[in-house]
Amino acid sequence: MSRLDARRILIGVTGGIAAYKSAELIRLLRKENAEVRVVMTPAASEFITPMTLQALSGNPVRQSLFDQAHEAAMGHIELARWADLILVAPGSADFMARIAHGLANDLLTTLCLAAEAPLVIAPAMNQAMWRNAATQANRQTLVERGILIWGPDEGSQACGETGLGRMLEPTELLDRTVDQLSGGRLSGVGVLLTAGPTREPIDPVRFIGNRSSGKMGFSLARAFAAAGARVVLVSGPVAQSTPVGVQRIDVETAAEMHVAVMDQVAACDIFVACAAVADYRPVEVHDQKIKKLEEQLDIRLERNPDILAGVAALQPPPFTVGFAAETHRPVEYAEQKRRNKRVDMIAANLVGAAEGGFERDENALTVLWDGGDLELPMSDKGVLAERLVTVIAEHYEQKYRTENT
Ligand code: C5P
Repeated sequence: MSRLDARRILIGVTGGIAAYKSAELIRLLRKENAEVRVVMTPAASEFITPMTLQALSGNPVRQSLFDQAHEAAMGHIELARWADLILVAPGSADFMARIAHGLANDLLTTLCLAAEAPLVIAPAMNQAMWRNAATQANRQTLVERGILIWGPDEGSQACGETGLGRMLEPTELLDRTVDQLSGGRLSGVGVLLTAGPTREPIDPVRFIGNRSSGKMGFSLARAFAAAGARVVLVSGPVAQSTPVGVQRIDVETAAEMHVAVMDQVAACDIFVACAAVADYRPVEVHDQKIKKLEEQLDIRLERNPDILAGVAALQPPPFTVGFAAETHRPVEYAEQKRRNKRVDMIAANLVGAAEGGFERDENALTVLWDGGDLELPMSDKGVLAERLVTVIAEHYEQKYRTENT
């Protein structure tokens, strides 16, 4: 049996040199028995001919909202409803901007607005265009609305530059399409995450906190949900919006986070500890605001429970992933932490003034597991989260398969 039997996929092609790769993508989708219809923007036909995509898809290619013959055969709203999935590959910066602003000034954007099927964009553009603040703001808006952004990839570009902006390869887009249409690679898998900082109260108005923004944890929650997992996110106080489809539990202290995690852990298969949990809390919490009467003030601290180590010690434990934010020698300390806490996988990163990490939109990670490691280079936390979820899914599947054979 083919992997996409009779699934209906609408391919949108926008103007960019990667449009030549959409021909291969359509061929691969057809090989898996998908029904494919293609809509091109006017700019796309500067890069590849409608005739090529028509021959490969086996259906007439649509280009205009105002084509009477095509509208009579299948109206644009009907076409939007026909699709099980809309995949725009390549998705240009201009297309992302138009969709982010709800424009419907050509056939493809009109279809995307009218469709109820999942919308996926595989961006492809020059690396500076991808990094541009406007594109990143549009990406953020789209992601928050539940639109799936696959890629872009890092590497050499047609313009001669190197960086993030290459469209994912057609084979990767095909595999992701198969996963998406079967409910996602992690369909049916329960994922529990912690994110953000904790606040350890000193008195009613003061607390011990840290610089964690929660961005990495929220990006991971979003990426897990996009992969089809059931996601529960236990978060400290952050200014992040809850990703579509994610169940969020808000807590303040490490002790509250611990209780919430232990309450939820039985239903999860994967546990990811992304929160920057305070190691210590004040022994005494004053019930009134402390007055500045003394020259020196001592605050005695006691250890908080280690949530990650606690989850890893459960019998049986879920697949456990920790983070190690270090100011120096991150890989060495992270490996020690992985062994001490007996977790399956740990993601190490440098934090400090010049590095990524806390309060930044970008980060780089080294992922360590028993017998291996992988570098995930500096990228936007959304892109990084997608990659990390893929690595976690691979290792989770491997362990699960091994334990069940
Ligand atoms: O020991 P350290 O705090 O450096 O370990 C970091 C990892 O452990 C992170 O994954 C963090 O979320 C987790 N952690 C935890 N509970 C604590 C302290 C850390 O879950 N009390």
